[in-house]
Amino acid sequence: MKNVLIVGATGQIGSELTMRLREHCKGGDVVAGFIKGAEPKGILLESGPSMEVDITRPEQIAAAVDKYKVDTIYNLAALLSAVAEAKPQLAWKIGVGGLYNTLEVAREKGCAVFTPSSIGSFGPSTPHDKTPQDTVQRPETIYGVTKVTGELLSDYYARRFGVDTRSVRFPGLISYTTPPGGGTTDYAVDIYYAAAQGKDFKCPLKPGTFMDMMYMPDALRAAVEIMEANPDRLHHRNSFNIASMSFDPEIIYSKIREHVPGFKMEYELDPLRQAIADSWPNSLDDTCAREEWDWKPEYDLEAMTKDMLVNLRKKFGITA
Ligand code: SER
Repeated sequence: MKNVLIVGATGQIGSELTMRLREHCKGGDVVAGFIKGAEPKGILLESGPSMEVDITRPEQIAAAVDKYKVDTIYNLAALLSAVAEAKPQLAWKIGVGGLYNTLEVAREKGCAVFTPSSIGSFGPSTPHDKTPQDTVQRPETIYGVTKVTGELLSDYYARRFGVDTRSVRFPGLISYTTPPGGGTTDYAVDIYYAAAQGKDFKCPLKPGTFMDMMYMPDALRAAVEIMEANPDRLHHRNSFNIASMSFDPEIIYSKIREHVPGFKMEYELDPLRQAIADSWPNSLDDTCAREEWDWKPEYDLEAMTKDMLVNLRKKFGITA
């Protein structure tokens, strides 16, 4: 990995992965691909090249690849699960049409491609606890449908055309830099923003709703390590289960209260998000990732909670 294009570089994952890769790929170019209205700013803009790359426009992807001699594309353009339900046609256009455009450019120009899949690629008929790597994937959300299609299409391009496609199934990602938009797991980010700013929190999911979650530094490391893994050891490609922690709203609430004793949460359920969360796994089994490319998370709920609160207070200029 030397010259990298990040499509969706100003989003929740992209804004941090771009910076991480600029550190990692010294001597190469890491291009921040953005769409109109979501231009990079500040350090993201100043620390390296950026270019308009709308994933629905293959000529823009190809132009960035040619200009910067890109060898690896990180395809991070997507609508998250709840917002995708409101705009299913657009979710398909970006999630599947956009991936197809990316894979075609990669096939023609010899690039490797990383495209995240998700816990959302599973559905109600999947075993919910310690969900295996290879199991039933019959999601009922358009988000999940695009993710399963993406896994299949990526594996097809690897088999049929030799495109080096790799992927992980991300859990809900928790970070303090760029907020996610319109996901089902977003509550686990929002709760920290509320706690750090001394506000009460209204939880959209009911107690007992378990989902896998991960702190962003672990997710970024996974995205880099999978693309640098020895291909001879990979029996799977698209896509690996990865996991670090699973909790429900009560568990994260009590953990935050250990650090912010006055913090208050009440429930105000969102039926759409609740239905989506109920259809997803409670926890994933990530044995294959551990065996095939030595995946190992570093952050647990306690370590993440401390780090989130410290950094969010800094961000909002609050002294605890
Ligand atoms: N975080 C995503 C969502 O909630 C799941 O991958 O939509």
